[in-house]
Amino acid sequence: MRITYDTILKDTDPRLRNSSQPIKTPLSAKHLALAKRMLRYVKDSREEEKAEKYNLRPAVGLAAPQVGEFVHIIMVMVDQEEGEPAVYLLANPKIIAHSIQNSTLATGEGCLSVEEPHPGYVLRHARITVRAYDILDQKDVIIKEDGYAAVVLQHEIDHLHGVLFYDRINKTNPWEQTPNLILID
Ligand code: CO
Repeated sequence: MRITYDTILKDTDPRLRNSSQPIKTPLSAKHLALAKRMLRYVKDSREEEKAEKYNLRPAVGLAAPQVGEFVHIIMVMVDQEEGEPAVYLLANPKIIAHSIQNSTLATGEGCLSVEEPHPGYVLRHARITVRAYDILDQKDVIIKEDGYAAVVLQHEIDHLHGVLFYDRINKTNPWEQTPNLILID
């Protein structure tokens, strides 16, 4: 069954606040099928024709809880300055180290599960080290990322713990420029 925009849980659904469970690796057939559906959604959502045909809102990432599966699987696909996009299809991702310095997307974040706009800087670690099981390569990996890819990874990992991007916006001063904050265009 194909994931479409309509089947993605919205933040009006309290289940999106659940804490999800780590999974066994290598993946069971059921989890592997779920991961492949997530990969397909993100890939196809970036192709205009398929996005229109199947009602897919373009995405750079997706987390299993957004499709009603409360397990630790995330999918991230972000363009790089050169070459092919970076693709991460991960089980049990965990941030094991991060910079003190923060970064933020200059125009704020969005989410397939959030229909209302929530303007403001979403504070993220500028640099992260993630330990995970790489589902495509079928092995444990250590990932170091910064910039946009680090933001998207943190956004998706947050979903595994019931956290949404607007939880990280300063409520009283949403565009507060804190010292050393990196703005990502
Ligand atoms: Co999201």
